[in-house]
Amino acid sequence: MDYSAKVMDHFLNPRNMGSIENSDGIGEVGNAKCGDVMKIFLKIEGDRITEVKFQTFGCGAAIASSSMATELIKGKTLEEAWRLSNKAVAEALDGLPPIKVHCSMLAEEAIHEAINDHIRKKGLEPWID
Ligand code: FES
Repeated sequence: MDYSAKVMDHFLNPRNMGSIENSDGIGEVGNAKCGDVMKIFLKIEGDRITEVKFQTFGCGAAIASSSMATELIKGKTLEEAWRLSNKAVAEALDGLPPIKVHCSMLAEEAIHEAINDHIRKKGLEPWID
């Protein structure tokens, strides 16, 4: 399978791997087909993401997508992070092989879950795609 140099780089040297103690939002999603799981932790000040970490038990494409997605939403507002699509993540990685595109969906979904976890904790209605 052909992976881009960027995918290999983010797979071999993942950025923002780990967890955040006292995070303001956690999102955990799984892919029922492959069983891979991704967890995203957010630290939020006002409406801005000041810190983000991930834990991914999954394939290389899922790890590279988590790494890239966390880089892309760091310092962004919740709304900007919400709008990050799996397509944008895949593009930032210079593309994913077609059968691996679904792996980048985990990142988009985990970010949405983490944002909604934060929003629910504030007693507000969760956002919808
Ligand atoms: Fe499961 Fe990639 S094969 S996320």
